[in-house]
Amino acid sequence: MHAVVPPADGLVQTIGQGLIMTPPGPPALSAGQAGPVVLAENVRKCFGRTEILKNVSLTVMSGEVLGLIGPSGSGKSTFLRCINHLERTDGGSLKVCGEYVGYRRVGDTLHELGQKEIAARRAAIGMVFQRFNLFAHKTALENVMEGPVVVKREPRQHAREQARAWLARTGLSGKEDAYPSELSGGQQQRVAIARALAMGPRLLLFDEPTSALDPHNTAEVLDVMASLAAEGRTMIVVTHEMAFARDISTTLAVMNGGVITEIGTPHDILAGQPTRPPCATLASQC
Ligand SMILES: Nc1ncnc2c1ncn2[C@@H]1O[C@H](COP(=O)(O)OP(=O)(O)OP(=O)(O)O)[C@@H](O)[C@H]1O
Ligand SMILES: [Mg+2]
Repeated sequence: MHAVVPPADGLVQTIGQGLIMTPPGPPALSAGQAGPVVLAENVRKCFGRTEILKNVSLTVMSGEVLGLIGPSGSGKSTFLRCINHLERTDGGSLKVCGEYVGYRRVGDTLHELGQKEIAARRAAIGMVFQRFNLFAHKTALENVMEGPVVVKREPRQHAREQARAWLARTGLSGKEDAYPSELSGGQQQRVAIARALAMGPRLLLFDEPTSALDPHNTAEVLDVMASLAAEGRTMIVVTHEMAFARDISTTLAVMNGGVITEIGTPHDILAGQPTRPPCATLASQC
């Protein structure tokens, strides 16, 4: 539980307008979503006495792809984990599609929800990790079916058909019955992406999804992610792949020392010219 720190006027930065297109195949639930998908206002996170996130404020609109880059230890993963409430926050406010993921607000105080409620809200957020996190004893198809059957209580037959479609969507037709140990790293990561998509997420979070992969497998995964971006899905992508960040992101943010130090178009950020110097718009961080 922590007090909500209301943002001062103008502290929250809206990051451009994203591309919204009707995707082929199963619908992208992000398409048509009105308002910000992610609204972070002065988010603080501490581990012990160390403040890891220092008043992070940003907005991600529907259809946007926010690339998040920055040096190791700067807080990128911690921020992603706070978004889907894998970590509690210590201050500020963080909403996905207008709702706190892990809290209920009573007056000026946030109270943590129960695990069931958190799981239900978290279902709107797909997260893809560096290390796949697949169930080793389940096939690719079973891994993708698991969430819809267990969390969303979908009938098995329907979930199975959908899972086949999602595996096809990530280029894995024919691999339905393979176990993770029988798949390459890139194929496992694409199962993980199919598993996230099967939940109908409004937001996809990627935390260095290719850093454990060789160049060939990296290219396969980046292709799938680029196609998801092109169909208008709302995504936050933490990556050290600068060329990919430049190509896929509608907006690029640089995090350093728990602070968003630069934000702008990929072209301007990578050319060293942020379109909006952070001190002008994110005054709390200066
Ligand atoms: N559970 C934890 N307990 C204590 N400290 C933590 C914990 N998780 C992360 N940290 C610390 O928080 C800081 C930010 O970590 P984080 O993993 O968010 O960085 P990052 O930007 O994702 O780095 P990388 O690019 O290496 O993945 C680091 O100093 C890290 O040691
Ligand atoms: Mg990290």
